[in-house]
Amino acid sequence: MTETTYVMIKPDAVASGKIGRIISRFEDAGLTIERLEMGILTREQAEGNYGEHKGKPFYEGLISYITSGPVVKMAISGEGAVKKCRTLMGPTNPAEAAPGTIRGDFGLVTDANVIHGSDSPESAAREVALFFGA
Ligand code: RTP
Ligand code: MG
Repeated sequence: MTETTYVMIKPDAVASGKIGRIISRFEDAGLTIERLEMGILTREQAEGNYGEHKGKPFYEGLISYITSGPVVKMAISGEGAVKKCRTLMGPTNPAEAAPGTIRGDFGLVTDANVIHGSDSPESAAREVALFFGA
């Protein structure tokens, strides 16, 4: 099923010059970049994106990290795009991410793990609307 997901290149990867190579991974896989915008998230946007983690020990660090510098916000579409993007990204902890995945190739630590992607079609709809409107 063709669907649209939300993907965000995180501050560590923007600051270290990985934007082009990361976007290429999605294009090379046949996915389409529908919307793209760079900017610094407000605290409200960060909390909207990560509300499910509120109260967890890593939550405050996550919010301050994700608002610490510019990110690249994208809406990406294609057949099975939600799952496909998560597969291209690799697991949350870059130490467990295989070479060839974005986190495996460009990341080292969970606290600054290069990229975010919606984890379900429901999250995707909510996050695309949060950052790009309906
Ligand atoms: P994301 O939402 O950023 O795409 O990452 P994810 O689905 O792979 O992982 P999730 O469980 O949603 O966690 C969101 C972000 O919180 C940080 N985290 N730290 N220290 C920890 O145990 C821990 N667990 C999660 C990570 O930066 C993760 O990307
Ligand atoms: Mg998540």
